[in-house]
Amino acid sequence: MSELSQQIDRLDQEDVLAEFCARFVPDVLGVNYLDGNSLGRLSHDARAAIVSTIDDEWGNELIRGWEHWTELSSQLGETLGSQLLGAAPGQVVVSDSTSVNLYKAILSALSLLPDRKVLVADINDFPTDRFILEGIAASNGLELRLIASSMNEPVGPDEFAPYLDDDVAVVVMSQVNYRSGALNDLARLAYVTHSVGALLVADLSHSVGAVPIALDADDVDFAVGCTYKYVNGGPGSPAFLYARERLQSELTQPIWGWFSAADQFQMGLRYEPVPGIGRFLVGTPPVLQLAALKGALGVVCDAGIERIRQKSVIQTELAIELFDAHLAPQGFRLASPRDPAKRGGHVTFEHSEALSFSSSLFSDHRVLVDYRVPNRIRFAPSPLYTSFAQVYEGVMALSKLAAR
Ligand SMILES: Cc1ncc(COP(=O)(O)O)c(C=O)c1O
Repeated sequence: MSELSQQIDRLDQEDVLAEFCARFVPDVLGVNYLDGNSLGRLSHDARAAIVSTIDDEWGNELIRGWEHWTELSSQLGETLGSQLLGAAPGQVVVSDSTSVNLYKAILSALSLLPDRKVLVADINDFPTDRFILEGIAASNGLELRLIASSMNEPVGPDEFAPYLDDDVAVVVMSQVNYRSGALNDLARLAYVTHSVGALLVADLSHSVGAVPIALDADDVDFAVGCTYKYVNGGPGSPAFLYARERLQSELTQPIWGWFSAADQFQMGLRYEPVPGIGRFLVGTPPVLQLAALKGALGVVCDAGIERIRQKSVIQTELAIELFDAHLAPQGFRLASPRDPAKRGGHVTFEHSEALSFSSSLFSDHRVLVDYRVPNRIRFAPSPLYTSFAQVYEGVMALSKLAAR
């Protein structure tokens, strides 16, 4: 057995999260799944929660289920806030999609700074972030400034400061870049944003459940994010929205639905929002998806975000060590930061044949990764269910394909 194989065996034997793998439903093909930053695996708890919500609650409680289903959005918001987001109570709800929550957060921030006319975002951020901003800019006569970031490294305050002035109302920024995995420093971004009196909306889609987050301590104003990636809530699992407590009573949320009305069942003529974070709710929530998320989130909380991050860093370090030894000599380039403090949960390799390699990885080796245009392969070990051996096998399978 080589020294490397021994090292990988030891890492798996000493893995304090190893037992969590059994909390996920194995797929029939026995896939080496390195795509948990797109869609997390199905856990037994999520599955059981959906089945019991269907059979016990929908089937037996019928309409009476709403007596407790209406609480799910805020209950899950509190759990996410306290366990994963570093948010004190009363600042997070789960509802709608990340795109819709971005729309609500940006327009709410704008309602607090109505005289300012500029929005700022990273040109390399996820398309929905840019599109939502473009639409808001077009329909409100605002200017959208896009930071020409380097993408493969965090957006530094020096890179971002030239786009800021007293006319900027809102800055939108992902904590972890979806293509490179670069991890932005939220506290510094918030500090620089606030230095011109603007508000920060953070997209945490690629960091929640992978990286410890401290929204209150970092002084972030608004945040949104997906729950179907590292939180494993399932396809279409609703997103979360965080709004700083001190801003809530002043802002106007743009989508006035009956679920945030103070007198929901009075069926009143005038809209008056509930006090607090509940004002961000809109309409009937997807109860089965919320049930799945409740089950899935319990697994993440049992593991604890600090332990998840520790394992994630060792796994991405291993992937980069293997990249240096086996992929770089075959023409691959690393498109993620080398410094683990500047990296989220995935690493990205570039190669001109990335598209065909990613499909052959699955057809020939049962390794499932993510391809991103034009030439990127994302490797996302998910510490709750990915072993160190799987990280090794994934990189070595790619190396074998390139050597053919
Ligand atoms: C950074 C980021 N923001 C937003 C989204 C999309 O959110 P949704 O389609 O759930 O609205 C994604 C999806 O992958 C994402 O990666």
